[in-house]
Amino acid sequence: MRIAVVGGGPSGLYFSILMKRSDPTNEILVLEQNRPDDTFGFGVVFSDATIAEVESADEQTYAAIIAHFVHWDDIDVYYGGEVVRSTGHGFSGMSRQTLLSVLQEQAAALHIDVRYKSAVTELDELRSYDLVVGADGANSTVRELMTDQFEPTFDWRPNRFVWLGTTKPLSAFTFHFRENEHGLWRVHAYQYEPGHSTFIVECTEETWRSAGMDTASEEQTLAYCEALFATELDGHPLILNKAVWRSFPTIRNQRWSVGNVVLIGDAVHTAHFSVGSGTRMGMMDAIALRDALIAESVELDPSGGSHAERGSPMAERVARALASYEAERRPQVESLQRAAQASLEWFEATERYMELDPVQFSFALLTRSLRITHEDLRMRDPQFLERVDARIAKEAERQAGVPVRRDPPPPPMFTPFKLRDLLIPNRIVVSPMCQYCAGDGTVDDWHLQHLASRAVGGAGLVYAEMTNVSADARISKGCAGLYKAEHVDAWKRIVDFVHIRTPGKIAIQLGHAGRKGASKPLWEGDAEPLEEGAWDLVSASPLPYFPDRSQTPREMTRADMDEVVADYSRATEYAEAAGFDLLELHMAHGYLLAAFISPLTNQRSDEYGGSLENRMRFPLEVFDACRGLWPEHKPLSVRVSAVDWVPGGMQPEHAVEVARLLKQHECDVIDVSAGQTVPDQKPIYGRLFQTPFADRIRHEVGLSTMAVGNISSWMDVNTIIAAGRADLCLLARAHLFDPYWTRHAAHMLGHDIAWPEQYESVSRYTPRFEFHFGGE
Ligand SMILES: Cc1cc2nc3c(=O)[nH]c(=O)nc-3n(C[C@H](O)[C@H](O)[C@H](O)COP(=O)(O)OP(=O)(O)OC[C@H]3O[C@@H](n4cnc5c(N)ncnc54)[C@H](O)[C@@H]3O)c2cc1C
Ligand SMILES: Cc1cc2nc3c(=O)[nH]c(=O)nc-3n(C[C@H](O)[C@H](O)[C@H](O)COP(=O)(O)O)c2cc1C
Repeated sequence: MRIAVVGGGPSGLYFSILMKRSDPTNEILVLEQNRPDDTFGFGVVFSDATIAEVESADEQTYAAIIAHFVHWDDIDVYYGGEVVRSTGHGFSGMSRQTLLSVLQEQAAALHIDVRYKSAVTELDELRSYDLVVGADGANSTVRELMTDQFEPTFDWRPNRFVWLGTTKPLSAFTFHFRENEHGLWRVHAYQYEPGHSTFIVECTEETWRSAGMDTASEEQTLAYCEALFATELDGHPLILNKAVWRSFPTIRNQRWSVGNVVLIGDAVHTAHFSVGSGTRMGMMDAIALRDALIAESVELDPSGGSHAERGSPMAERVARALASYEAERRPQVESLQRAAQASLEWFEATERYMELDPVQFSFALLTRSLRITHEDLRMRDPQFLERVDARIAKEAERQAGVPVRRDPPPPPMFTPFKLRDLLIPNRIVVSPMCQYCAGDGTVDDWHLQHLASRAVGGAGLVYAEMTNVSADARISKGCAGLYKAEHVDAWKRIVDFVHIRTPGKIAIQLGHAGRKGASKPLWEGDAEPLEEGAWDLVSASPLPYFPDRSQTPREMTRADMDEVVADYSRATEYAEAAGFDLLELHMAHGYLLAAFISPLTNQRSDEYGGSLENRMRFPLEVFDACRGLWPEHKPLSVRVSAVDWVPGGMQPEHAVEVARLLKQHECDVIDVSAGQTVPDQKPIYGRLFQTPFADRIRHEVGLSTMAVGNISSWMDVNTIIAAGRADLCLLARAHLFDPYWTRHAAHMLGHDIAWPEQYESVSRYTPRFEFHFGGE
């Protein structure tokens, strides 16, 4: 097979070596614009887990690479005048130049034709090859020449970074966080060979400009960074190698191959350097591409001819191999890019976390990509984890004002949390879930078993579903209400059960469906309008939910608003009469109050529309009325949709402003959900996909938050609490699946929570059935 590879970086050379070794008759040409010893940057890092994949792909290259490795297990975080060390991480580093030399030697030994100082500027001459591989890095010429076909996207990140070196030896992967008059500077540093370390300096654009780095020469950058990090460098110099300040692009491509032209490595995808995986990803691409070609037996069957003529057997096999290469690698790459995205966002927002103490800060840093959990760190470094847990226990004791065991400390999710006078025994909350089976708003035995079994199941707080403040405020005919005296008695029966029979607490979520009212139950479609028996709807503006089939609501008048405030007020008094511990106002998911907040659903021209302040006017009026009637010692929360997932809609920074206003009105905690405002939303789902919004509000506003959305494993809950991303975690579907979720988590963590007397025998019982509870 005849292969042309554009780019002699790690991806291109490694792919060429793999292909030549798999079949020495392969004719491979590598075109590299630079000379063999021209390179940028200093070191590359591999994790132990990933280098094993290189070993199984090609033992000879693996052996040549690892001969140059510097290995370390520790991560040191220098922050707030302290250094926090954690161990068990397992990384290896080497010089980028050495890696390239090793690969160049291997290629030479295999007689691969590598032509240096050969920049490719057009593809015509390469068209006759069976396969053309674009391995020409982030600024790929191959991709640019075929940009209409590959359809790349570039997400240029706002932070600035410069890649420097130093002679300072480092015994651990090292992070520094240093503040000066210009702002906060982050350093990612690691040793890649004896006496040489990579030293990447990163900061926000604002800090970069304020320090004058936007106009600095390489020498000025060096002088500034040497002075700034004089203590850290301990007399060692920084070293320059094309030390230009850059911003990082996350590159994605709609297509990875077109005809017989395929992209690998940085040409097709990038992942932020803080997850240290760029070189490895390129090498994994090389392995996957080789495997796909072998699986199609492209290079083993000479009958296919050697020319990439369209429609020839060879061309068809190449096309199939390229498709299976993409099918294999794309999900893995996208998963890593998601982790890299979480990681780079953490570094873009580090200023937010500067009030954390060193141990919690380090834990948040180590778990920033959401890939490493509290449990992973227990495996890697139990002593570090005990410091984390002890710190959370101490803080919980201070916050909740009750003793918390220290020896050993409980897992973070089993620490108490206090809101006003309400002491919640642990951090697990059953999220509100409509059951659609109340009769004219009156809840029954179904609701009793739904909430009671989950409270018996160990959750610290259970939420009654969205409960509507009037009959016309309901989503569906089966929705629960709190608008008639008899509703109070029905709810009280459930509240009393939770209070008398369990240590858990119970909350109620008051809502008004607005334009999403008069709908069918969820199992017949989300917000699908009733065909018969619908009632008149009101909303902020006369916009139907589904433009083609929903009822157009009436724009609310001031008189309507007065009526709704009165309904909320009555419901608040009823909620107190029923004995609920916490009151939540539903201002999310496109229901009435949310419809005032979002610019997509509020197009009013009076004082209730326009600016965010105006759009918040009516929701805050409702809030103030409820707060005024709800007992002083009981907490009040608000559920918000932090984003609408639609351009022009609510964005996370707006949710921060909403939370700030609510805090000014004495809201105690924000329950941070997202979306469901409009049907054409484009949510980015994934594990913990809404948690970053809770994290942001908690730190930027200084208000307690609850995280919700695809939280299902106890590892994730412990991680969220320990990192300070939220104070409480709400689980909805996980609790439908397993009402005893909290008890099962306690069992898995070896943590005792008391069983009710009636079930006491279970404490002498060991489950023997297979029980996987990892959540992944
Ligand atoms: C600050 C920073 C730190 C990083 N740290 C790490 C790390 O610790 N670990 C890690 O694994 N990765 C790291 N990376 C990423 C890593 O450098 C890249 O992911 C990796 O080099 C990608 O390999 P590649 O072969 O695909 O591309 P490249 O290494 O960019 O190689 C592409 C090659 O193609 C050549 N070329 C380009 N255009 C042409 C042309 N038209 N004609 C001929 N030749 C051409 C170039 O000269 C180059 O030699 C880091 C990146 C940055 C920016
Ligand atoms: C059956 C069902 C009913 C729901 N009803 C409500 C509700 O009444 N109020 C509300 O704010 N969210 C409601 N939700 C959303 C959940 O509270 C939660 O935010 C969402 O399911 C994401 O959490 P999860 O990934 O843990 O399921 C409901 C979800 C489900 C599955």
